[in-house]
Amino acid sequence: GDYETKKRLRATHEGQQRAAGTLSAHRQLYERPFPLYKQPVEVGCFSLDSRRVFCNDPRQLRYYVQPAQSPGFDLRDGYTSRFVKRDDSVKEKLDHVLRWILANRDKIQTRVQTSSSSALGVDFVTWRGHLTKVLTTPYETHEGWMLAASRFRGSIYISEVETEAARVNRETRSERQEEMMYWGYKFEQYLCADDVDGTPDPGGVVNTNEAFCTVVQTRLADHTLLFSGEVDCRVKDPDAPPAPGCYVELKTSAEICTPKQRSNFHRYKLLKWWAQSFLPGVPQIVAGFRDHDGIVVGVETIPTSKISHLIKNEYNCWKPTVCMNFCNDFLSFVKSVVTEDNPRVVYLFTWDPHRDVSFTVHRDSQYTFLPEWYIRDTSS
Ligand code: A3P
Ligand code: MG
Ligand code: MG
Repeated sequence: GDYETKKRLRATHEGQQRAAGTLSAHRQLYERPFPLYKQPVEVGCFSLDSRRVFCNDPRQLRYYVQPAQSPGFDLRDGYTSRFVKRDDSVKEKLDHVLRWILANRDKIQTRVQTSSSSALGVDFVTWRGHLTKVLTTPYETHEGWMLAASRFRGSIYISEVETEAARVNRETRSERQEEMMYWGYKFEQYLCADDVDGTPDPGGVVNTNEAFCTVVQTRLADHTLLFSGEVDCRVKDPDAPPAPGCYVELKTSAEICTPKQRSNFHRYKLLKWWAQSFLPGVPQIVAGFRDHDGIVVGVETIPTSKISHLIKNEYNCWKPTVCMNFCNDFLSFVKSVVTEDNPRVVYLFTWDPHRDVSFTVHRDSQYTFLPEWYIRDTSS
């Protein structure tokens, strides 16, 4: 029966981990009780300005302005005339997060009774987006990933490396794809004001260099985490819960007209939306549903905590517990592999759909990502 199958798979899984130094991503292996995930605490924030320069303040934080239920926003407006696109061939790695750490070391909360021997007092430093990819791995069938990890002063830093397939995708996007990538940012502009007493300005320029990022600390089972993630906006109410509880994630998706479309939305879109917002503790997602021509025909607020209930009617659907248990085991695997404390040594973890996670080791290579300015400063 089911139990026997699981037992066999688990034995194989553990055998593989010992023998070959790999980690299975089979979803059945991760159907265990939900692991401890501490409520994320915001320890700081930063902004990236219109020229993508790091600013140690919340100047890019915007305020949510609720739209009509069927607002008719035109997401194509301004694409050719009022759009400044970030150069996504520039690989920023962890640099912005590291700049935040250098400027705010005193704000990082070390456990009172610290078992951690690291200088920062956290086990892992990374971007939220990298963790989102780890969470969704057991259900991903198309896109693999590469994550570089280095141990430095006891903490493990994890930074993404673009796969060959992702690079080809990025360099060969169709004109339609390029334009549709703009739609999500245009939607943000229709819903966000720059000031707490302001209103959105759809006539302005959409500049995707600009970002507001939260920095949170949390713990997944035995792993203490410090990560940063971009936040779209916050509610205006000054009495709202403190960050990240006041943050709102904005999303767009194709309008849902058939049961099949609804099912796909639940199975694929909501998995990614849940993982992205659950990790930093963002409680609300505002979804804009648009037609083929980029007109927003419906807007709905989806509480992040209700997503797991929304999907329960789907047959054989994704489960939050599988995502979190896989992430927990992946971080344990990384800890067991990334043993040499040396910022010039990179352990490169690779995963492709239908394969196990594997790794290679690189010394003084193209993969080294902790910059000299960070190593120098934190050494003193
Ligand atoms: P949508 O998610 O509404 O499509 P985010 O939602 O994470 O704040 O990102 C804002 C927008 O950036 C997205 O809006 C989308 O337009 C664009 N975007 C982000 N990641 C992308 C990706 N991997 N591929 C294409 N577009 C992306
Ligand atoms: Mg965003
Ligand atoms: Mg968004």
